[in-house]
Amino acid sequence: MHRVLSAGQYILGPEVSAFEDEFSQFLETTQVIATGSGTDSIELILRCLDLQGKAVVIPDFAPSAVASGVVRAGAKVVLADVDPESLILCPRALRRLLESPEGKSIKAALVVHLYGNPANWSELEKVTRDHGIHLLEDAAQAHGGSWQGRALGTMGRMSAFSFYPTKNLGAIGDAGAIATADAALADLARQRRQYGWKTRYESDSPGINSRMDELQAGILRVKLRTLKWQVTQRQKWAGKYDAAVANNPRIQAQITTSGGIHAYHQYVVRCAQREELTAHLQSRGIPTTILYPSALHQQKAWQQSGEFAEAERAAAEVLALPLHPYLDELSIDHVCSALNDF
Ligand SMILES: Cc1ncc(COP(=O)(O)O)c(C=O)c1O
Repeated sequence: MHRVLSAGQYILGPEVSAFEDEFSQFLETTQVIATGSGTDSIELILRCLDLQGKAVVIPDFAPSAVASGVVRAGAKVVLADVDPESLILCPRALRRLLESPEGKSIKAALVVHLYGNPANWSELEKVTRDHGIHLLEDAAQAHGGSWQGRALGTMGRMSAFSFYPTKNLGAIGDAGAIATADAALADLARQRRQYGWKTRYESDSPGINSRMDELQAGILRVKLRTLKWQVTQRQKWAGKYDAAVANNPRIQAQITTSGGIHAYHQYVVRCAQREELTAHLQSRGIPTTILYPSALHQQKAWQQSGEFAEAERAAAEVLALPLHPYLDELSIDHVCSALNDF
């Protein structure tokens, strides 16, 4: 922070460039473009792919930010149900939509690796390839996860990351990034994050203002050094929770996608008696959160008709348990024994 303040350049300077390089090395991809937030990153990737006025499929069980980003890009949100085990966009639901009368207007699917659980990329890729649409990634909850050896956020043509403070890699304010292996799209994203400037004061196409601050980049560079360790800690605690709920018929863990390594941004269980479980944990001093209490189509802003049985069931049953890298073994064991007793 001192280095940034002494240098006196506060936006898109050497810290941002260094962070872009370091994060692209971490992901093993060629291009990272730092932005102002995850929502901005979604907007920008859709704009770079000229999806304004087109329909984009997103999972119905996802944070509102995903739908907001699509709308801000001038695209139309089309919701699809999720897979009941992984809670990720269901390939069969996506195919049904693409084969429906409305299917022709759909030009992209934006997949969310929910809570850090990797999507089954090859299944989704098959559906989107059959219909000639873009497959894009929202890796805002997935820093440090992978699928079949590929880092989450490097499989889509373009991907969006958020560095909101609570994320696996979090800044001390809003920040985000785009990742892509396509140099031309990366150039376009760099222009469009700053007024569409090709060179200073010369815009090639309309852009927005979504630039990362030097202070955020400096903080992210320091935190990136321990990201691998932090994700390993999350996985270690998640393994203990998995073991604690494995034989409890009243609680189901989210199923990690086969071939994937979960980034465990959140550890979320499902329980048909959620209120009872919440009260039981609370009585032992264990806080929980509901992520997310309603599916997107159930919210006023995103209402639409369709088949969303799994998203609705997920919204009624999910409960996030305490999880962060700095929890200690004793606290985790306390939660595990409370889960056992339920
Ligand atoms: C899956 C997902 N996508 C997008 C976003 C938006 O990111 P931001 O809050 O940085 O705009 C978030 C986080 O809030 C998220 O969890």
